[in-house]
Amino acid sequence: MLKQISDVVLKAGSIVSSGFHSAKTIKHKGEVDLVTEYDIRTENFLKEKLQKIFPSFTIIGEETHAEGKYPSENVIFIDPIDGTTNFVHGVPFVALSVGVITDTETKYGVVYNPVLDELYSAETGKGSFCNGLPIKVSETSSLINSLISTGFPYKKDNLPYLMKVLEEVLKTSRGIRRAGAASLDLCYTARGIYDLYYETRLQPWDMAGGLIIVREAGGIVTKLDGRYHDMDSDSLIASNGLLHREFLNLLNEIR
Ligand code: IPD
Ligand code: CA
Ligand code: CA
Ligand code: CA
Repeated sequence: MLKQISDVVLKAGSIVSSGFHSAKTIKHKGEVDLVTEYDIRTENFLKEKLQKIFPSFTIIGEETHAEGKYPSENVIFIDPIDGTTNFVHGVPFVALSVGVITDTETKYGVVYNPVLDELYSAETGKGSFCNGLPIKVSETSSLINSLISTGFPYKKDNLPYLMKVLEEVLKTSRGIRRAGAASLDLCYTARGIYDLYYETRLQPWDMAGGLIIVREAGGIVTKLDGRYHDMDSDSLIASNGLLHREFLNLLNEIR
């Protein structure tokens, strides 16, 4: 099954990479929240192909889903281009993300950066891979030696809190990155490039593919209060596990 999903995502990736190097039509969903014809084309392609593999599943894609509550099982979340702002500006940190959720948790996750040609995949109990090679989280055990990643929501209503956290993380870590694609932030954590990644106000399609890739690489993913993250929260901390307690303590001091 993972191979079938990966093959579909790889094919869809050629739509994204062709768009990356071409002129595109940009529409605004909000003041700074963009969408292009390539987001829609890629989503429609993924939906059609994945529905054939999983005929009884509900498919929710960022750009074409109907408003309302999402099912918690037998559902596939698709982000056709995670990092649309990067895509529009030519920053090669973009990905297609697919998370297949059977029993409230992701069973298969596939995240593909078609510009750098990096395919991340995981299936429950079988480990995580990048281009077929196993990946593992880092072994960094203190925040001061760690590289932390984060992102910021399009809606700017929670900025004072986020800036406070940012200030404390800057003081306590080796550095912060904001690369602009949540699914790849998760994969870079799974690969041990980032030691920890946190973000608030994410959508299920940002997280579903990457969550299992972190866990199967030996990392942990929780909500901001430290409880297990099972897709019921829009905020998360993903780490190598060793840094989690120190990071939670840091957040607790800010609250
Ligand atoms: C966004 C990216 C970004 C994150 C935003 C997401 P999009 O997704 O993942 O890194 O900070 O919260 O909405 O809109 O490019 O698919
Ligand atoms: Ca996204
Ligand atoms: Ca997107
Ligand atoms: Ca978007």
